[in-house]
Amino acid sequence: MPALRAERVILAIETSCDDTCAAVVSPRGEVLSNRVASQGLLHARYGGVVPEVASRRHLELIDAVAADALETAGVSFGDIESVAVTQGPGLIGALLVGVSWAKATAAPRRLGLTAVDHLHGHVVASTLEPDPIEAPYLSLVASGGHTFLARVEHPSSYEVLGQTLDDAAGEAFDKGARLLGLGYPGGPELDKLAREGDPEAFGFPRSAPGDGLDFSFSGLKTSLLYKVRELGEREAEARRADLAASYQAAIVVALTARVAQAIGSERLSRLSIGGGVAANSGLRESLTELCGELGVRLYAPPMDLCTDNAAMIAAAARFTDPLPYPEYLSLDAAARLVA
Ligand code: KG4
Ligand code: ZN
Repeated sequence: MPALRAERVILAIETSCDDTCAAVVSPRGEVLSNRVASQGLLHARYGGVVPEVASRRHLELIDAVAADALETAGVSFGDIESVAVTQGPGLIGALLVGVSWAKATAAPRRLGLTAVDHLHGHVVASTLEPDPIEAPYLSLVASGGHTFLARVEHPSSYEVLGQTLDDAAGEAFDKGARLLGLGYPGGPELDKLAREGDPEAFGFPRSAPGDGLDFSFSGLKTSLLYKVRELGEREAEARRADLAASYQAAIVVALTARVAQAIGSERLSRLSIGGGVAANSGLRESLTELCGELGVRLYAPPMDLCTDNAAMIAAAARFTDPLPYPEYLSLDAAARLVA
């Protein structure tokens, strides 16, 4: 058994969707371990996440993933100061596995338990070492489940400035990819294909910000559908790279335009990006260029902190008071969190 550390640590668990995640993070924000057991392949054959399958798999994996996180960090249960867990939003059955596991781990040891908002985790992932962002900053979170812009005055909370009114950006990538006959999840494949195509080949609607900072992506997917039909199977197949590049460009422009508007209106000089779409090469290029022009520092954490992970849940827990034993025994998971 490893010797006890001088400084106690946070053990965090995240099971809101289809990844079983556990991490150990120090109170100063050093990531000592960040383990993810992906269920991607399990759901790929259905073309999307099947909630009941996800919860059952979390149950099978969570003990092993948590043990792996502790071992990788070189700590034992005696080193844990508090347990943090995603309370929501997410798939209720999946969340319940994490919440129940966290209670069962914290209660016998009389440890505190921090209930974390998954989105808060994405927003503050960039506060972790080795290059922590300092508040105030603007946060863009774009994943398969969410797309929003938030102002962070202090990492203990965030103010949503704008959000998607329909599909998330990652969902738009996935649906576009499916229309182009690519695999699931389609974002990375579409990104790859787009590099070989012309982003100006097709004029997909590039929505500019209206009065607010909200996003809408569902119309874009429909225009790709119509374009593919109009071209016919053979032509659409031949021009797949151009279709991918033009479709991606429309999403990237929509995201970049709102970031630019928010930086201006909020007068912020730091931007962090998170969520799986932060991996998109077109988005990274476009935001790097924008930030260069505006003199804004861009924080793009390593991808394992951008996609769903438990280190970001620990990051949020650093700025949230844990519930003491036995108060958290009645804690419930929540598919939707009411702010
Ligand atoms: O954050 P994430 O791993 O999971 C949640 O949805 O919470 O994000 C996954 C999403 C998927 O929709 C995936 O297609 C998209 O992120 N994604 C990408 C890229 N890599 C992942 N979208 C565009 N370009 C990429 N390179
Ligand atoms: Zn997420």
